[in-house]
Amino acid sequence: MPGLPGAGLLKKRLFGLAICSCLSVVMVELLVAQRRTPDLDPLIELLAEIDDAEVQADILRGMLEELRGVRTLPLPDQWPKAAAKLTRSPNVEVRQMCTTLSLIFGDPQALKMLRNTLANSRARLPDRISAIENLAQIRDAESVPLFLSLLEDDDLNSAALKGLVAFRNTEIPETILAKYDQFDPQTRRDATLALASRPEWGRKLLHAVEENDIAASEISAFVARQLASFDNPEINEMLMRSWGNVRPTKKEIAARLRRYKRSMQNIDLNAEDLSHGRTVFRKTCASCHKLFGEGKLIGPDLTGSQRHNLDYVLMNVLDPSASVGHDFQMWTVATSDGRVVTGIIKEETSTVLTLQTANEVVRIPIDAIEQRKKSEKSMMPEGLLEKLSDKEVRRLIGYLGSPDQVPLPPKVEAN
Ligand code: HEC
Repeated sequence: MPGLPGAGLLKKRLFGLAICSCLSVVMVELLVAQRRTPDLDPLIELLAEIDDAEVQADILRGMLEELRGVRTLPLPDQWPKAAAKLTRSPNVEVRQMCTTLSLIFGDPQALKMLRNTLANSRARLPDRISAIENLAQIRDAESVPLFLSLLEDDDLNSAALKGLVAFRNTEIPETILAKYDQFDPQTRRDATLALASRPEWGRKLLHAVEENDIAASEISAFVARQLASFDNPEINEMLMRSWGNVRPTKKEIAARLRRYKRSMQNIDLNAEDLSHGRTVFRKTCASCHKLFGEGKLIGPDLTGSQRHNLDYVLMNVLDPSASVGHDFQMWTVATSDGRVVTGIIKEETSTVLTLQTANEVVRIPIDAIEQRKKSEKSMMPEGLLEKLSDKEVRRLIGYLGSPDQVPLPPKVEAN
């Protein structure tokens, strides 16, 4: 393996490339990729010397990209000097990234600053969201009560939920469940996904469903499958009782297919209420698929697919795992602190595994992974139609077959 370029050489190269931002990032990647604990000193020295905010931002971005998922690193000698300069930068992004790095390097000042930003209701929203992400990344236990209180805040509750899964305090699931009714639909999805991240929390979620505090229809097929992935007999039994069968056999799938086909045979699906079909799509499919430019791209864009072909749609929705594209294979990763994450692997480096889950990109340090399992299943769960009424299914399929976008129903539009 070629040795690391010395600090002097690297500096020369970086200066030469100062205008070409992408290349300086490549250099950072090279540097960091060669060791588990990267030697950041040459870059930090460089940061302290140059004044061009663009180049500083590039270097910081490159360092952060590579350190994603890393919780803490020993403080590099040169950092305080560089940080003193960067925190005075007129460039917001440079300042923010500097704080994040200071935090990773265990700087108590940076920690205090972030906690203050988070607690300050007048701070900018993006800064507060970034504070949540940073504090969750280093597992700042002192922030947990603040995260919990932010569940009351409509602008921050979603970010707080994603941050809270990093902690294992027992009051977390209870508080999420107590506030559940106040969340909007998107936040409720984030809440159920958060609760499905640990067996103990999942059991509490299912208990709330059994007690009718939460409707079974709130549990998406994806969440149900995530709960089933714990392979915990008690959880499986609760799931079966309150939600239904998460792992249908081929025979059951074939029966479902026949039933839906029969019920839609003589129906003009285009004449259904397609606007309502669009809301069903939003609720059930748009977290992973785009259609007419709306939705996420975890799965393929459906706009150009054979979506007007009833057989094709039903087959894919009822039996998504019949043929799974390599890119969409799902992995279940258990971490040493008891969290289970399911998703598609986006990237893996020597230090960090990046997974796309149903609602976020999660970066897990390789040394925090206890077990990982490749599933034969698609990321797209079976049973997506299980919690929909026949009428909703007809409207959804009618909407999927629509040549163009349709307006939302008036009620939703008013929101
Ligand atoms: C959790 C994410 C997720 C959800 C929710 C989801 N899908 Fe998918 N879907 C996928 C992925 C990933 C694929 C790629 C298939 C594969 O290779 O596994 C896919 C494939 C498909 C396909 C085949 C597309 C192709 O190009 O072959 C159709 C059709 C489809 N989905 C329809 C739907 C509909 C309709 C819904 C809502 C009822 C839905 N999906 C909900 C993730 C999802």
